Amino acid sequence: MKNYISHNTEETKELAKKLANQLCAGKVVLLYGTLGAGKTTFTKALIKELGFDGIVTSPTFSIYNVYQAKFPVYHFDMYRIEDESEAEEIGIDEIFEDKNSVSIVEWPEKVKDILPEDAMNIKINILDENTREFIVEEGK
Ligand SMILES: Nc1ncnc2c1ncn2[C@@H]1O[C@H](COP(=O)(O)OP(=O)(O)OP(=O)(O)O)[C@@H](O)[C@H]1O
Ligand SMILES: [Mg+2]
Repeated sequence: MKNYISHNTEETKELAKKLANQLCAGKVVLLYGTLGAGKTTFTKALIKELGFDGIVTSPTFSIYNVYQAKFPVYHFDMYRIEDESEAEEIGIDEIFEDKNSVSIVEWPEKVKDILPEDAMNIKINILDENTREFIVEEGK
């Protein structure tokens, strides 16, 4: 387990860069943290660091967006999911098991029964307006 303190969005981007270097295809990144914690801010930086040179937007009409970085990167936002079957219907199991892509998941607690055991777990805590604590734990 590793803890990082970010004092501003720039430091969050730097952390995303550091963690991007540890990510290989096949990984799932689970991002825990309340509204406004910084999950999307971190995700945007991570996708950029993984080699996608475009605009990353939060998935709104769909559960996920996919970006062609150095490998495909799936960005899930489970916030609006009411039942885990909604995620199962889009074939989430196959996406999580895909060894050629990376999945990044906001609000993973909404689909807790279908999360892979072997994931990078990141918990973001709000310490004050601009300060965030990132607790990074590798599963298994
Ligand atoms: N150190 C920091 N790291 C990340 N974001 C920060 C930091 N300090 C302030 N912020 C601000 O906190 C907000 C984080 O918003 P963001 O959309 O990334 O949160 P989120 O966790 O994705 O929320 P949601 O659950 O609504 O999707 C942004 O407005 C960002 O500018
Ligand atoms: Mg978000």
